[in-house]
Amino acid sequence: MMRLDILTLFPSMMQMFFQESIISRAQKKGLVEVVFHDLHDYSLNRYGSVDDYPYGGAAGMVMCVEPIANCIEGLQAQRTYDDIIYTAPDGEMFSQPMANQLSLAQNLMVLCGHYKGVDERIREHFITREISIGDYVLTGGELAAAVIADAVIRLLPGAIGDEQSALADSFQDGLVAPPEYTRPPEFRGWRVPDVLLSGNHAKIDQWRMDQALARTKERRPELLKQSSNQTIKQ
Ligand code: ADE
Repeated sequence: MMRLDILTLFPSMMQMFFQESIISRAQKKGLVEVVFHDLHDYSLNRYGSVDDYPYGGAAGMVMCVEPIANCIEGLQAQRTYDDIIYTAPDGEMFSQPMANQLSLAQNLMVLCGHYKGVDERIREHFITREISIGDYVLTGGELAAAVIADAVIRLLPGAIGDEQSALADSFQDGLVAPPEYTRPPEFRGWRVPDVLLSGNHAKIDQWRMDQALARTKERRPELLKQSSNQTIKQ
């Protein structure tokens, strides 16, 4: 079972997300244990403060080194972590190959950044991997951590009903997914492509591959230029 520790100033903001749907089921099935740690609980000063003004003077607050170090070291004393991740806009861009790789880990820690970020000494001495979920700035790392957790947990064997479907996702073969249809076969005169109703699986597979290629060319041509197949390369 994977263990995922999430260090945050706002555990309640994240808990709701993990109590629903596939992610909740994965926990109930024992595929992953998600544990939240409120950094306020690791502050040694009596006000429970977790942030302070930046040295040198600048706008905003910086998350203090001490509560975070206490929390991380407490966890490290109990188990070995494959990665201690920090979510930040200047991190490595999150991608499907990265999610695939993280899904093989036994123990992961994710530190959610906030305000102006964390004291650099945390990044220097504890963080093994810094991840951005895109070139935009969020108010905090919680949503980024939820995105990473979601993409990783759904890859755990047994997390989604149809084992095949995680592998057939957009990006797993370096292509975006083909269009999908379900019943009815006709709605307001809009018909499902005949090939999908034909029962000819070889033809259907070929059609799906053609569609995936055409869509990738049209919507994400840069994926075709990236050197061959990233999933296999890993
Ligand atoms: N924190 C703030 N913005 C972020 C982003 N784009 N990715 C990850 N963490 C963040």
